[in-house]
Amino acid sequence: MTTLVTGATGNIGRRVVAGLVGAGQRVRAMSRDPRAAAARLPAGVEVVHGDFDRPETWPAALGGVERVYLFPFVDPAPAAGPGFVGTAVEAGVRRFVVHSAAAAALDHQGDPGDAALPPLRRHLADEREGHRDVERAVEDSGAEWTHVRPALLAAGALDWSDRIRATRAVRAPYPGAGNALVHEADVAEVAVAALLTDDHLGAAHTVTGPAKVTQADQVRAIGRAVGADVGLVELTPEQARKEWHDPELGMDHDTLDWLLAVLEASVEGEGLLPPNDTFERITGRPPRTFEQWARDHAGDFR
Ligand SMILES: NC(=O)c1ccc[n+]([C@@H]2O[C@H](COP(=O)([O-])OP(=O)(O)OC[C@H]3O[C@@H](n4cnc5c(N)ncnc54)[C@H](OP(=O)(O)O)[C@@H]3O)[C@@H](O)[C@H]2O)c1
Repeated sequence: MTTLVTGATGNIGRRVVAGLVGAGQRVRAMSRDPRAAAARLPAGVEVVHGDFDRPETWPAALGGVERVYLFPFVDPAPAAGPGFVGTAVEAGVRRFVVHSAAAAALDHQGDPGDAALPPLRRHLADEREGHRDVERAVEDSGAEWTHVRPALLAAGALDWSDRIRATRAVRAPYPGAGNALVHEADVAEVAVAALLTDDHLGAAHTVTGPAKVTQADQVRAIGRAVGADVGLVELTPEQARKEWHDPELGMDHDTLDWLLAVLEASVEGEGLLPPNDTFERITGRPPRTFEQWARDHAGDFR
């Protein structure tokens, strides 16, 4: 049985590939740049060219595949053909495990793209509907499915890596903002369990880290992991808005509006999404901490 892993070079996908290979499975990894991907993936993994934006690449990636780990993609022409999911089913795929997001489980926040919504609700509406589109395509496909919905990823801290390497400091507003950040290895473990066993069919698993970890906690943990003093310079939201504004990097005013709103909403209590026991229920072990994540990624910050 061959499993196709899409998003195979990503934070979570790389771990899914490794988990499947470790379980003795035949794995095909899809990438837009198979040569670069092959250099980053375990030996023995078949790497194929595939691009969600280019339907002509799909049949070759999907031929002979029975199970798919499905990265959240946007169908380039939803009305015009079977889409990636339909093409996969036509090719013989019988099970999808969807890389989704906790936002998919939120109540309706309003319609995506509705400029009248406040920034946080607009962002959550966009996230919810984008991920639900992929989930719905799989639910409607007739194949078996499981949705794996990560909370905010600890890997978001990698955005600080250049600055920490260069200056040993992070500049950010709301040092007390935090959420129960989830280690990509935990998300991948749940995904691998759903690919390999029948225990998760028709389930939607929101996977969180063990506890809220504030931005100040994250910076301290990264400092400990690299064995250096890493500081957090607190900015006002307005200073952050000026420093971070960079439309070429996608940091336009709309993005900054919701980013700052997410941080502001994550100061009180347990943050935007309280920790849950999904990972422990599925694996029998507590989720990995942010300390562990920082140790696993120390090389990214040195
Ligand atoms: N940020 C969060 O806190 C959070 C929380 C919950 C869920 N999520 C979801 O998780 C995703 C990020 O996951 P991650 O960190 O594991 O990924 P990542 O490290 O950002 O990697 C992105 C992956 O997507 C692949 N990809 C991008 N465009 C593609 C295309 N057109 N066709 C085929 N493959 C394409 C890339 O493959 P190649 O470059 O090799 O082609 C790469 O493997 C987000 O997009 C979001 O939807 C994020």
